[in-house]
Amino acid sequence: MSAHSMPEDVRREWMRTLLSAQKPRHSLLQPLYCDETLFNLEMETLIEAQWLFAGLECEIATPGQFLTVTVGRSSIIVCRNRAGELRAFYNSCRHRGSQICDAEKGKRASFVCPYHQWSYDLDGKLLRAPNMPDAFDASGYGLKAVHISSAAGIVFICLAETPPDFAAFQTALEPAVLPHKLQSAKVVHEITLEERANWKLVWENARECDHCAAGHPELMRTLQLFNFENPWDDPYISAFWRRCEASGLPSITKDGNGFRVGRVPFQPGQLSITMDGQPAVRRRLGDWPDQDIGSLRWAKYPGVFSHIHADYAIFVQIMPVAPELTSVTCKWVVHEDAVEGIDFDLERLVEVWRETNVQDLVFCERNQKGVNSKGYQPGPYAEPSEFGVWTFIDWYRSEMAKVVAA
Ligand code: FES
Ligand SMILES: [Fe+2]
Repeated sequence: MSAHSMPEDVRREWMRTLLSAQKPRHSLLQPLYCDETLFNLEMETLIEAQWLFAGLECEIATPGQFLTVTVGRSSIIVCRNRAGELRAFYNSCRHRGSQICDAEKGKRASFVCPYHQWSYDLDGKLLRAPNMPDAFDASGYGLKAVHISSAAGIVFICLAETPPDFAAFQTALEPAVLPHKLQSAKVVHEITLEERANWKLVWENARECDHCAAGHPELMRTLQLFNFENPWDDPYISAFWRRCEASGLPSITKDGNGFRVGRVPFQPGQLSITMDGQPAVRRRLGDWPDQDIGSLRWAKYPGVFSHIHADYAIFVQIMPVAPELTSVTCKWVVHEDAVEGIDFDLERLVEVWRETNVQDLVFCERNQKGVNSKGYQPGPYAEPSEFGVWTFIDWYRSEMAKVVAA
């Protein structure tokens, strides 16, 4: 049965059945990783209803700067208006629906539709509509707005009519990120990987590190592994938290519905995620006096995880495209005044995460092939090391259960 021929109540009932048949702390039932009907239901009811990472304020620092983000079938224009405020609209002309802006980023005084030249200002208001009769009232034909918010210089959008609460996440994230001063940063490198894997497999892979020892030789030069279920049992991380918090740097892990924020140390003596553990960038992100502040790791489902170090940050955007296709974009961020060739070497800056991301792509695509097998059966997550995986899956199940509730 195709996605379009299944009645709405039937697909919701199927989702409810699968969710309730799910064994706790086990991987999902097969259709949840590959069926198109269920994927479309997830897109419409879960993904488009959440706050999604769109980019960084520093990418659209001045009026007219914009970037575009694709969420499901919709391209969204995210820009800064003349007053310096953030705005987001559907990239769909109010004349006959043409996509207006094909560029991924840039700067415009207005957005002009290439088809018949309807033009819109930076608030989405329709300014000109050539060939329309004099009596045409442009006021009802502005670009459709999308909700937009920001936390510590990180921009989120939500396609829902009424977005969910943003404040709890913002309250947890902002104090931890603000010392890194992302408003005075810049993106110096960006790579998008199209991964032939379901978006939940991409998240499951990102939430555990049992595969790291065998799979990520570059990353494991500096990354320290922890028991994230009971971090206070680990004297190394608890001493690190006490030292950072005593210096005024928020570090202790905070969990909320669909997000986690916490700072973790590297292996002893290491200062950054690079091949030798030494900083990749001479000019630091923010002006915190101590360089030995590990990595602020945070994640917000379903769209982003990030590692912010003293010298650079990465933001990894996870965007579901199709049941077995996920777009994963990694952005590398440094201080706005850091000069390539003087303050940092680009290859040295990007090599560990570039290699790690490609290694993860291979794991995720191989995982997808295996879960598509006739012989696939959900298996148990390891305790406690796959804590991040089952908490992600628990979040997914509870959010889906809410939206498909009868
Ligand atoms: S569709 Fe945009 S101006 Fe006609
Ligand atoms: Fe990995």
